[in-house]
Amino acid sequence: MALLKLLLLGLLPFLCLPAALSRPSRFDNLGSRGKPTSAHRTSASGRHIRATLQSRKVNNVTGGAVSMYDKALKVSDRSPREPLARYGAGIVVALGTPGQIVSAILDTGSYTLLVDPDCNQAADPKACRTYGYYDTKQSSTARNLNGWFSGQFGTGYMEGVWFSDTAYVGLDNLPLPNLRVGVSKWSQYIWAGVLGVSYGKAWNTGYQTLLDLLVTQRYIEVPIFSLGVGYQGGGSPSDIIFGGVDRKKFRGYLEPLEIYPYPDQQLKLFGQVGYRVNLTSLGVTPPGRNETMLTDTDFEHNVLIDSGSTYTYLDADLVATIARALNAYKDENGVYRVSCDTRNLDGSVNFGFNFYNIIVRVNYADFIVDFENYCALGVQPTDSKNPTWVLGTSFIRAAYLIFDQLNDAVWIAQYFPCGENEIADLTKDAGRQLWLEVTGLC
Ligand SMILES: *[C@@H]1O[C@H](CO)[C@@H](O)[C@H](O)[C@H]1NC(C)=O
Ligand SMILES: *[C@@H]1O[C@H](CO)[C@@H](O)[C@H](O)[C@H]1NC(C)=O
Ligand SMILES: *[C@@H]1O[C@H](CO)[C@@H](O)[C@H](O)[C@H]1NC(C)=O
Repeated sequence: MALLKLLLLGLLPFLCLPAALSRPSRFDNLGSRGKPTSAHRTSASGRHIRATLQSRKVNNVTGGAVSMYDKALKVSDRSPREPLARYGAGIVVALGTPGQIVSAILDTGSYTLLVDPDCNQAADPKACRTYGYYDTKQSSTARNLNGWFSGQFGTGYMEGVWFSDTAYVGLDNLPLPNLRVGVSKWSQYIWAGVLGVSYGKAWNTGYQTLLDLLVTQRYIEVPIFSLGVGYQGGGSPSDIIFGGVDRKKFRGYLEPLEIYPYPDQQLKLFGQVGYRVNLTSLGVTPPGRNETMLTDTDFEHNVLIDSGSTYTYLDADLVATIARALNAYKDENGVYRVSCDTRNLDGSVNFGFNFYNIIVRVNYADFIVDFENYCALGVQPTDSKNPTWVLGTSFIRAAYLIFDQLNDAVWIAQYFPCGENEIADLTKDAGRQLWLEVTGLC
């Protein structure tokens, strides 16, 4: 619980202020912002860990092995819809001694590392082998923790045995001893390893997750990471920076979005804490036309930011309206498809936060998911059973996002890369740094 106490201390400066909970955000109280400056010193060799991300795509995930157990411990909020991240970002981790290379799906919607031992029981054995697996018998540092886990990932399920081993992450391959690893015995619809980077020991787990360990090993000072997934089809940098922010990925100030419901409330409501924030507007700008707003001025709806989801999920009526604007149609499975040529048109779908303080414009080229043999609309309807709205990779590509577990916020800017990295390291003073100093240089 030590970490929990630290977290609450981190909050105190904000909570003590009178207008702390007024909209758009408590970060307004940190002082007013002037013109963004480029003078702030950034260190080239300070405390952060950078890892590049690769595009991961599978077209054909089938069911795979059937579960023998039903004591599912939820590790993700995702409701049953599509196979986990059929098209998303992969992060390479070396596991064990000697290191075995595994490329896992980077998942902001879950919080632990789950990998496959041999791919024999994977939903798509061929895809699984391509991305690597982890054989505990080949590692001299693997320890069996003698416990079973099972995890529900929306459409996708995995169960197996807990191990602990040394992992190496990032471009510098820094060792992380005693990382908890779930080794799959059975899985359904999961075709590769998953690295969850949501809240760990602070709220969701009794053990330290990868992000927790990076902090306790002092590789980074604070549990914060930045994510730039990049444009669909490549052509722009794609990476995650633990403990730092790349100021060459956006322009101007970052907008803070408070985690809402607050973590303690989420724990009560959902049994776990995730990166949920309020969406406050939605619009479409068709090619050559003005923006059409799809929501009223007082609109507010909670969304989960989930890089493990290919699609964005909203209510069916809104999706139908967006579908009409893009000439999308439903296929036999009820998935909205759209002509791939639409990706070339100069239109966007626009997501607003903090009442128009920031609008992230997702170009059709990124919003329409290209599976090569067909294209799908980046937004699909939620199940009526599980109405959680999700901002998946089809949204995330257009944003530069800083997931801040110190201040319980997600900081956001339009993704706008402009050359060589210029990474600012974050400290215990990250709230003020992100509010005032860490501006984008593009
Ligand atoms: C998809 O998977 C099914 C079942 O494994 C297989 O029969 C089929 O050939 C696969 N299709 C493609 C395009 O790989
Ligand atoms: C867009 O809005 C502006 C200002 O309201 C108006 O002058 C212009 O004609 C509109 N353009 C189109 C294509 O509707
Ligand atoms: C999020 O939206 C809900 C419902 O409209 C509202 O009560 C809450 O104050 C909002 N939270 C934040 C942080 O803006």
